Amino acid sequence: MAFSSSLEPNCSKNCAIHEGGTLEMLKFQPVGVGIQTIMSYDKSKKIMEEARKYIPGGYSSVTRAFEPRLVWSRAKGSRIWDADGNEYIDYHAAYGPPILGHNNEKVNRSVKETMERIDLVGGTTEMEVEAAEKITHHLPSVEQVGFCNSGTEATYHALRLARASTGRSKIIKFQGCYHGWHDSVVMNVATPKEKMGKYDPLTAGLIPHAMENTIVLPFNNLEQVETAVAANKGDVAAVILEPIMHNVGCVIGKNDFLRGLREIADREGIVLIFDEIITGFRHGLGGYQGISGVHPDLTTFGKAMANGYPIGALGGRADLMKKFAPGGGLFFSGTFNAHPFSISACLATMRELESGWVYPHLFKLGKIMTEGMSDICNELGIRAVTSSFGSVFTTYFMEPPVNDYGDLLRNDQELFVQYRKRLIEKGIFMTPYNLRRSHISAAHSERDIRDTLDKSREVLTGLQKSNLASSLQS
Ligand SMILES: Cc1ncc(COP(=O)(O)O)c(C=O)c1O
Repeated sequence: MAFSSSLEPNCSKNCAIHEGGTLEMLKFQPVGVGIQTIMSYDKSKKIMEEARKYIPGGYSSVTRAFEPRLVWSRAKGSRIWDADGNEYIDYHAAYGPPILGHNNEKVNRSVKETMERIDLVGGTTEMEVEAAEKITHHLPSVEQVGFCNSGTEATYHALRLARASTGRSKIIKFQGCYHGWHDSVVMNVATPKEKMGKYDPLTAGLIPHAMENTIVLPFNNLEQVETAVAANKGDVAAVILEPIMHNVGCVIGKNDFLRGLREIADREGIVLIFDEIITGFRHGLGGYQGISGVHPDLTTFGKAMANGYPIGALGGRADLMKKFAPGGGLFFSGTFNAHPFSISACLATMRELESGWVYPHLFKLGKIMTEGMSDICNELGIRAVTSSFGSVFTTYFMEPPVNDYGDLLRNDQELFVQYRKRLIEKGIFMTPYNLRRSHISAAHSERDIRDTLDKSREVLTGLQKSNLASSLQS
């Protein structure tokens, strides 16, 4: 049996697709639209051989390491092209930033105008103030904002602020959440079965003390949080979480769980941090907190907020954030912080999101994809569940439920990766790695989604015939 799990968007009053959006999308549809079968990867292979000589493994970010090893030469709208000229409908989306689609005209224009006028000067700019004001306007829990360059910086500052303001050392994170690569959090994301319940660092070289101060708990399980907080009474500075665990696909934080965390944090003097680096701006201008109604003390942002330009931000209660002001005791610094190019991209992205057409479009396409995948798997008798929220979806090859990371250990990893590899051969790029999520952008069209569903049916039928994966029959 196949199931679909998706929540409805909080946007029903404003659901007409803006004409400007469709026009821009049409402009970038490649001729013929029908997706071509991939011809060859020769040029990618050759460049990757060179890459390995000069860049460790050939990758500047290890999460880009998967087969096929492609080299990218062009991106526009919903499409990306590799070095051999093969064209793909893109759902990888560089792990999430281009919410408006690649190379968005309005964002580019705004950055170009900024470039004509100013570059990095090393001081406050008016547009930085405007961007911060806009964020505080859209997110009631955010009274002040600090800009940095990546999500990792934002979560680092959030945890340091929580520790400084509580005078405590320990933090709670959840199995399956990713918050960047610094020592306190770089652990227990897609943990293998045999390491469940143990520390599972993603890297060597961590300061043991940092890791030991991190308590890892199962997601959506309030009881375990209560137990851990009681066992570490007065020692927990922060609870940090992705309100939807998108780093292992799409595991939605239940409202009772989020509300319960808020209550525990209030009762115990713990700083509640929502890591909205994926959910922020992607699911709504108010983030997932605007949808769930649960407001954290601090929020981290990145990815979609500048449509692909490098940026991160930390925002939250003014009484906490003001500690970053000179004399406040905390050090918030960075040569490139609030870079005018990224800030102008952020403002242009926010303006487009504010115009009203993007979220209804994204949620509509997300629904078609989720229901379509569910129908296909049902029709073929494949055990699967497509879990989605808005524009982010993942088809797991397993039975529901999808409540915590432990559930995802049932996913048929071989089928998950084979399905995506074969989609790539048909010109559909979903990250070919276990548990990765897929993203729809505002530049995707309904036709893109329908083409993707057609190719999915072909691929799954082919896999079924070749009987590659054991869970293909329910
Ligand atoms: C939820 C979440 N937090 C933090 C990060 C780290 O962000 P960055 O890669 O920009 O450092 C990521 C990156 O994928 C993320 O998904």
